[in-house]
Amino acid sequence: MKMKKRTKKPVLRNKIRNGECVRLKKVVDDLRKSRSDLKDKIRQQTGELKAKNEQLRIGAEKQIRSEAQIQTRTKKIDEQRDELLHVTRVGKLAEFVSSLAHEISQPLTAILSYAQAAQRILAEREPKLREIIQYIINDDQRASEVIQRLRSLLKKSAPEMKPLDINAIINETVVLIATDATVRNTVIKTEFDTNLPFVSGDRIQLQQVLLNLISNSFDALESNQGEREILIRTSRKDTDTIIVEVKDSGCGIPAHDIPKLFTHFFTSKPDGLGMGLSISRSIVESHGGRLDVKNNPERGATFYFTIPVDIKDT
Ligand SMILES: Nc1ncnc2c1ncn2[C@@H]1O[C@H](COP(=O)(O)OP(=O)(O)OP(=O)(O)O)[C@@H](O)[C@H]1O
Ligand SMILES: [Mg+2]
Repeated sequence: MKMKKRTKKPVLRNKIRNGECVRLKKVVDDLRKSRSDLKDKIRQQTGELKAKNEQLRIGAEKQIRSEAQIQTRTKKIDEQRDELLHVTRVGKLAEFVSSLAHEISQPLTAILSYAQAAQRILAEREPKLREIIQYIINDDQRASEVIQRLRSLLKKSAPEMKPLDINAIINETVVLIATDATVRNTVIKTEFDTNLPFVSGDRIQLQQVLLNLISNSFDALESNQGEREILIRTSRKDTDTIIVEVKDSGCGIPAHDIPKLFTHFFTSKPDGLGMGLSISRSIVESHGGRLDVKNNPERGATFYFTIPVDIKDT
């Protein structure tokens, strides 16, 4: 009996063990599989995180780059604006001095010829007076020479004519003057004919004209309580000519002032020089165009100038 019992038990135990082993193995296999699945998931998520991180890094770098670009561009615009304002100031000063010189040289010539006549009349009679007159003549001649030198120094250099996109020049000028427009609470709008051919002109000088006209419109709009708006329009006048208009709804121009507007030193402003329009007209004319003005039927004034199309574009 004992023997029978001894032989049966190990078989059963073995069977149980084998079953457990199989189950255990399955559990271990399952564990292994889920561990490897987990590893795969972690690997995949780490990859995704890395990619996202890289995207964020690239985005941040782009942002930094574009901020740096904006800063560089703003700095460039400020520099160009300062340069242009300087050119405008120097241009006005040059014109001012040269017309002053013109006005002074006429009386100087008269003084010289009177003094020479007096010297001839006094010839032998009044040697002391003759000597004094000689001093007058010498000083007069010295003053004339200074004026001559000044005039030749300030003589306008010839414009650098190039084919130019007038709409682009207007846009550049608007960007340059944008800060002033904000300070003066004025909106500058543009209405361009986008099919215009190139004009032939000097970029800086044409910007100077636009700058003078726009800053006059700023002043004219100063008394407007409500809307302050300037409209710059371009269009084709005919095959050979383009027309640029600067329109405002400011105070307008009294009819009796219109003939005087473009003369040197005409100003209605306490701190004005009265040179902006005369310089602008001479620039436009040196380009073969014409600068003029009309009061608007509703309100304000429109200054307009023509400019010839570049010969290669006609
Ligand atoms: N858009 C405008 N609306 C009304 N009046 C204007 C306008 N533009 C010019 N004027 C008149 O024409 C005058 C002459 O203008 P101009 O630009 O030659 O000289 P300014 O503006 O007085 O001084 P600056 O030499 O400093 O420009 C002005 O003083 C003003 O009376
Ligand atoms: Mg002016």
